[in-house]
Formats: sequence, C-alpha cells, structure tokens
Amino acid sequence: MLTPALPAVFADFESVFPRTGKALELACGSGAAAVWLAMRGLDVHGVDVSDVAIEQARLIARQSGVAMRCRFDSVDLDLGLPPGDAVDLLLCHRFRDRRLDGAVIGRLAPGGLLAICALREVGSAPGRFRVRPGELRTAFAALEVVAAGASDKQEWLLARASPATAT
Ligand SMILES: C[S@@+](CC[C@H](N)C(=O)[O-])C[C@H]1O[C@@H](n2cnc3c(N)ncnc32)[C@H](O)[C@@H]1O
Repeated sequence: MLTPALPAVFADFESVFPRTGKALELACGSGAAAVWLAMRGLDVHGVDVSDVAIEQARLIARQSGVAMRCRFDSVDLDLGLPPGDAVDLLLCHRFRDRRLDGAVIGRLAPGGLLAICALREVGSAPGRFRVRPGELRTAFAALEVVAAGASDKQEWLLARASPATAT
C-alpha cells in the first residue's frame, strides 16, 4: 500500500498544517497526501483527472481507516476548480495551472493555508505544468508568505489568507 505522507518538500513545516477543518487537494494523484491529512484530522476533498488514481486514493483511505473523512472525485481541472466551501488548507503538489490561481486564492477560508509545489522550468524544457523562477510568490502575492523555497527541480510556497477581521 502507498504510505500516507505529507510531501517531503513540506516535511519541515508539518506543524503549520492544520489538524481540523476542511482541505482540498488539487491533482491528488493516488491520495498519499490527502489520506495523511485525513489521518491528521482534516475533512479532505481530493480531485484528479485520473480515474485510476482516484480509485487508488479511495482504497488507501479505506485501508487507512479514514474513508469517512475523505472524498475523492474525478475532476478535470482544465474546467476550473470543483465547487465547494472555503477550505482551511489547499494543497497542490506537482501540478500547476496558472488559470486556477485566482480561484485558489478565493477558495481559502480566512487564515487558510495554501501549500503549493511545482517543478521548475530551469534546467528542463518549458512546460505547461512547470513554474518560472519566482512565479509562485508573484502569483500568490495576495497571501501572506509563511515559508517558500526552491531547488534545481522545484519551487514551493506556504502562504496564508488574511485572518478574519472583527467587525
Ligand atoms: C506529478 S502528478 C502529482 C500527483 C500528486 N499530487 C503527487 O504529488 O503525488 C500530477 C497529477 O496531476 C493530474 N492531472 C493532470 N492534469 C490534470 C487535470 N487537467 N485535472 C486534474 N488533474 C490533472 C495527474 O492525473 C496526476 O495525478
């Protein structure tokens, strides 16, 4: 069985990830991260265009005893984000679609965390799913940066929506 796990790039920041509330994972693949989040206590919605990956994710959720906190759907993100409530965590690991940036920001609940990581164009051919250096910070400048980094291969960002302001 695929082991549920937070993507390694975020491992040093595990404590920043919420333990309660709602999470959305875009392009969740076989669900290792989504199931890890559910085991942590979140109610998770994972979406991916691959029916095979979604079936695998549902299986891992059942085997991990967290199926009741997981929903996995086949969704083509070319058509936009699936409808849903604001989330406390939005995770997107190794998938990139610039057209979704505004909707991603808009989906975060006040104080909600975005965790995003994408492969870089540097050292490889430009591609639709790859980021240019500094692209994530620029794309999500409306959010407050918690941490960010880059390696030869990838670029990542943890950033928060503004907390709710008392009226
Ligand atoms: C490199 S994998 C990353 C999977 C997972 N996030 C992980 O880190 O293991 C990219 C994922 O994007 C999904 N994907 C590609 N195009 C998509 C689309 N238009 N809508 C939804 N998912 C898509 C693929 O099916 C694949 O699972």
